[in-house]
Amino acid sequence: MPKTHFRDKIHANVATTFNDVLLLPGFTSVEPEDVDIMTNFTEHMSLQIPFISSPMDTVTETNMAIALARQGGLGFIHRNCSTDEQVEMVKKVKRAESFIITDVITISQNEPVARALDVMNQKSINGLPVVEKGRLIGIVTGRDVRFAEDTEKLLVKDVMTKDVVTATKDISIDEAIKLLHKHRIEKLPVTDDGRLIGLITVKDLMLKGKFPNASRGKDGSLLCGAAISPFDADRVMALAKVADVIITDVSHFHNQNCFSATKKLLKQLAIPMIVGNIGTYEAAIDCLTKLDGIAGLRAGIGSGSICSTSVVTRAGAPTLFATANCADALSEVGGNVSIIADGGIKNPGDVALAISAGASAVMIGNIFAGTSESPGRLIGFEGRYYKQYYGMGSEAARQRRFALDRYSQPSKDITEGVEGYVPFRGTVADVLHEFIGGLKAAMGYVGARTIKEMWEKAKFIGISQAGTKETHPHDIFLPDKSTY
Ligand code: XMP
Repeated sequence: MPKTHFRDKIHANVATTFNDVLLLPGFTSVEPEDVDIMTNFTEHMSLQIPFISSPMDTVTETNMAIALARQGGLGFIHRNCSTDEQVEMVKKVKRAESFIITDVITISQNEPVARALDVMNQKSINGLPVVEKGRLIGIVTGRDVRFAEDTEKLLVKDVMTKDVVTATKDISIDEAIKLLHKHRIEKLPVTDDGRLIGLITVKDLMLKGKFPNASRGKDGSLLCGAAISPFDADRVMALAKVADVIITDVSHFHNQNCFSATKKLLKQLAIPMIVGNIGTYEAAIDCLTKLDGIAGLRAGIGSGSICSTSVVTRAGAPTLFATANCADALSEVGGNVSIIADGGIKNPGDVALAISAGASAVMIGNIFAGTSESPGRLIGFEGRYYKQYYGMGSEAARQRRFALDRYSQPSKDITEGVEGYVPFRGTVADVLHEFIGGLKAAMGYVGARTIKEMWEKAKFIGISQAGTKETHPHDIFLPDKSTY
């Protein structure tokens, strides 16, 4: 056997986890209400809160992405479905509210009214511009057809409003509101020389005021991310047309094939791309130096609450450790790249630790899986409510077969994730209220007013098992242990 350094290998590094450390309170003049948790997520995209959701089929579909974006965070739509289904989910988020919708659903004047009603029901909208050869010739709304009889025979042209009030694309929000109000209408088609190019709706304008922190693009639409495999270029290109940012969804991205495929994609992409998951300093250096143009690093391998990777393979890089390693690599190489701490977040304190270790945002699966906006239904059990949650490497996720290449060998017969249930926690807004409050309080203890100050000022201290016990509620009977 050659000269070995096995003892060094075991002791040289500690894979520090959230449970191993505390934040040291520092001298502070910062009150939690003074704290600003806005984060620069990509070069041209800032988020009001550093919370994003995992691209998992029990976490992020349309409702989750809409709810998170409205609160100022971001959802990443999962890829465990066909490309068409994923694209449609992203489109629904983009359509959910935007100042000017550009992806307008229209109808032809010679369609029966029944067809117009079907489309309105399917897409949950209450009006359709009527278009012939791209030109706007009318509008049909719920009001026009609500009491219509014989809707199979009656045609759209028989009921539509022909004298349509329209706007041009440079209209301001205030002007649009005035026009809608003046004419007592709910929809304002936007035209360019008679051609329909967009639509403004009362509903969207009202929502804009209701969610002042929402993450929005220039057109007012909610921001939406999507997960991809670097090996599925067709899906990537389809998503690049609709999503605002994409993220690779690979369990071990520091891999020659992933790098080669990603390099090709980066050359063609016009939207930001985050890569991962990675877990080491070396992986981060390689990503930062070999993948020109990446917008972020997704850090953490094996810490997720549903992960069994580290049990099955004994390989892993806990999220806190991975985040700090990526942050050091970034400070070494430089660049406008954010670090996303992914997996293992159980409470607001873990978010504070992840940010203190250099993260720009945290990615959460478990906690969001327990909200009303996650896919799946509520399940009652012994007087409590739960929602289903499973890993993307679990048998349940694998059965859907679309994300098999997340793990190294699609054909291999082992699972790297588990299936189960998480407690129901209310809405995304409820959960974020608690998490944002906790994060701001932690920043108050450290004396950090912003995320950047948290990177600079936060100090960690290791904690023993006995310390962990003492720093959690103890010596009291707690009927509800779920939050500790
Ligand atoms: P939490 O702790 O929020 O973590 O539930 C979510 C993150 O876990 C990762 N993930 C997996 N990791 N096997 C794994 O080893 C899996 O089956 C699996 N599914 C998801 C992923 O990074 C997610 O964001």
